[in-house]
Amino acid sequence: MTEGRIPVVAETVAGETMRRVVYPGSFDPVTNGHLDLIVRAARLHDEVFVVVGANLAKEGLFSVDERLAMLREVTRGQPNVRVDKFRGLLVEFCQTHHISAIVKGLRAVSDFEYEMEMAQMNYRLAEIETLFMTANPLYAFLRSSLVKEIARYGGDVSSLVPAPVFAQLQKRLAAG
Ligand code: PNS
Repeated sequence: MTEGRIPVVAETVAGETMRRVVYPGSFDPVTNGHLDLIVRAARLHDEVFVVVGANLAKEGLFSVDERLAMLREVTRGQPNVRVDKFRGLLVEFCQTHHISAIVKGLRAVSDFEYEMEMAQMNYRLAEIETLFMTANPLYAFLRSSLVKEIARYGGDVSSLVPAPVFAQLQKRLAAG
């Protein structure tokens, strides 16, 4: 990185710089915690790209296309939210789409170390900033893998995920 150089990656529309951010994740499936963060991020920025990335360490219950369809359905009321997928490095997606910052949610201190590492690496790779938002305390305990586990054992997850996601979960788990 050149000392003192500020990267110009934000897109300018009608002379205004777009505050465009990306909210990446596996979203397998999207939970109420994710949705809460998407809505809050959309209030703060001109455009939020919610993007499904392949986490090579995790095997999915839903295909990427199914996750995208659920995300599109539950964010339909958010005009400045776009849903997309990406392959490869997140910073490359950011550069291609003129996105200058990544938004991440922090649920607890335990999230911090891993997220900090990725944030610093993404800055090192391409000078892409990471903005951390604290999770809504209502959803601080919530993660997709727990939702799937509870649902698999017949527990009630209807208050943890948006209604269309709950319907898809029931369908998928009933199919075995
Ligand atoms: O919801 P997750 O599983 O925590 O999401 C992780 C994800 C997809 C955001 C992360 O694995 C990622 O950014 N993958 C893209 C590959 C990449 O850029 N890796 C380098 C990170 S420093």
